[in-house]
Amino acid sequence: MPQILELIREDHDLIRGLFDELESNPETRDVRCITLRRELPGHMYAEEATLYTHLRDRVPGEIRQSLDEHTGVKETLTRFEKIPLRDDAWMPALVDLRERVEAHFASEEGEVFALAEEHLDRGDLFALSERFEREKVAAARYVTV
Ligand SMILES: [Fe+2]
Ligand SMILES: [Fe+2]
Repeated sequence: MPQILELIREDHDLIRGLFDELESNPETRDVRCITLRRELPGHMYAEEATLYTHLRDRVPGEIRQSLDEHTGVKETLTRFEKIPLRDDAWMPALVDLRERVEAHFASEEGEVFALAEEHLDRGDLFALSERFEREKVAAARYVTV
């Protein structure tokens, strides 16, 4: 299995792809919304249970900032989910959610990844990847559609 930072980046790319499709293809929106509602919270939950937990004592300020970003994304996702697909407010809400998510991914792939490489050794990064996948599976069980 790849190390955890690679798994996180793969998830980010998958979610970016979902946003591309949601913006451009009205036909698949209902299905892609269900996928987004599963993948995005599951991804964040798994990060919090693994990478963030391991970095929290070493770089508390940065992890507090990342957790605040997660809270912002979750709140924006909750607002977005309440808007019907055919409502005029749907696309602006999608764009708003995407901007927030992309900004968070960028800070994670920049600062948080650099801190992880500085403070965790290769063994930690590989060991955390298995736990990351398990936490995502566990989180998916709690998502209702
Ligand atoms: Fe995150
Ligand atoms: Fe992430």
